Amino acid sequence: MKKVSVFLADRSYAILIGKNLLAQVGSLIKPFNLGQKILIVSNRRVAGRFLPKVSKSLSHSGFDVFSHLLSHGDERDKSEKELSKVWSAMVRNGLDRSSTVLALGGGVVGDLAGFAASTYMRGISFVQAPTTLLAQVDSAVGGKTGIDLPSAKNIVGSFYQPRLVISDVETLKTLPPKMFKDSLAEVIKYGVIQDRKLFELLEKNGKWLMTAVRKKSFGQKVFEFLEEIIARSASVKAQVVEEDEREVSGKRMILNYGHTFAHALEGASGFKMAHGEAVACGMILAGELAVKMGIFSVQEQARQIRLIQQISFPAKYQFSSSKILAFMKRDKKARDGNLRFILPVRIGKVKVFEHISEGSVKNVLDHYRSER
Ligand SMILES: NC(=O)c1ccc[n+]([C@@H]2O[C@H](COP(=O)([O-])OP(=O)(O)OC[C@H]3O[C@@H](n4cnc5c(N)ncnc54)[C@H](O)[C@@H]3O)[C@@H](O)[C@H]2O)c1
Ligand SMILES: [Zn+2]
Repeated sequence: MKKVSVFLADRSYAILIGKNLLAQVGSLIKPFNLGQKILIVSNRRVAGRFLPKVSKSLSHSGFDVFSHLLSHGDERDKSEKELSKVWSAMVRNGLDRSSTVLALGGGVVGDLAGFAASTYMRGISFVQAPTTLLAQVDSAVGGKTGIDLPSAKNIVGSFYQPRLVISDVETLKTLPPKMFKDSLAEVIKYGVIQDRKLFELLEKNGKWLMTAVRKKSFGQKVFEFLEEIIARSASVKAQVVEEDEREVSGKRMILNYGHTFAHALEGASGFKMAHGEAVACGMILAGELAVKMGIFSVQEQARQIRLIQQISFPAKYQFSSSKILAFMKRDKKARDGNLRFILPVRIGKVKVFEHISEGSVKNVLDHYRSER
């Protein structure tokens, strides 16, 4: 088992990454003084696979265990209606200020359950047990919780750190390979922004990993590799969050590497393009922009492209540069009027750039557009 610590004064916590951790949840959280009652929030698909194991372990350790399953099993669960149902389940089961909410599932479950925990009785303890690769490397780390409104994603929420994150890598066995691949884009991102060794590990083993995932052949070596890359990813995110927990200083912005382009590509596709795929393209575009500006070497950009293609992302898209630029401008308006790019200066280091001309962005977009 690996352990990554997130140092945030009295909100510090550990992220545990290893095999078969769900069967030990009870003993893992016991030392944390998390009260008598625990509400597990999950969805049908995840609960069918893992809820009995988690409930049994918690009951064994003496907790009173309750569960609440969200209705849809997808992004629709991050709604006011589902949030309200979680609050009602908390009242119905008599959760008090000393009780705990445990999120068992992907990013959707974690975001919603975390927000419910942060608001119930002005905040009760929260534990994350992420079961998707994206949740283990990204959404379960850093304390952003929230829901969507019909008009805007993640628009209502809070910064609320969990007391513990328990990432059982064995849960990833049942993930569809496409979800696995999409989440690897975020792992590559951590390599480029702050962990050159992680990038090199992926160069060496990324292709092999995806072959194993597609064949569903999860041996000991696959789990060990997953533990390593998840711990490294969580550690990069933890370090960034430690420096800028509430997105005030700007340091947290580097986690958005590839995302300025990605959000526009997702918009241009009518949200049909998967987030990971858009991030993969976005990183290539950011790298290209950096090469054109003379701040990133052609060789390192070639390595970035090669790695992304090895994991088998298409490096091209079919939308016109004007369409993508229109979405970028909309994004800029919606945020704070600044179009920012996080650009690599070498693999393992990125910097924030503003005031980049529309012409240079357009050039890069035109260059990478597929002619198909
Ligand atoms: N809080 C943050 O900092 C942060 C960061 C990134 C993303 N997010 C949010 O995370 C969400 C996306 O998370 P996600 O990619 O985990 O998607 P998700 O939570 O929607 O899960 C995807 C699907 O996988 C299923 N699933 C979960 N675990 C499984 C398993 N082990 N085996 C098989 N199927 C499983 C789920 O039931 C669901 O149907 C978005 O809402 C996004 O906004 C939050
Ligand atoms: Zn992302």
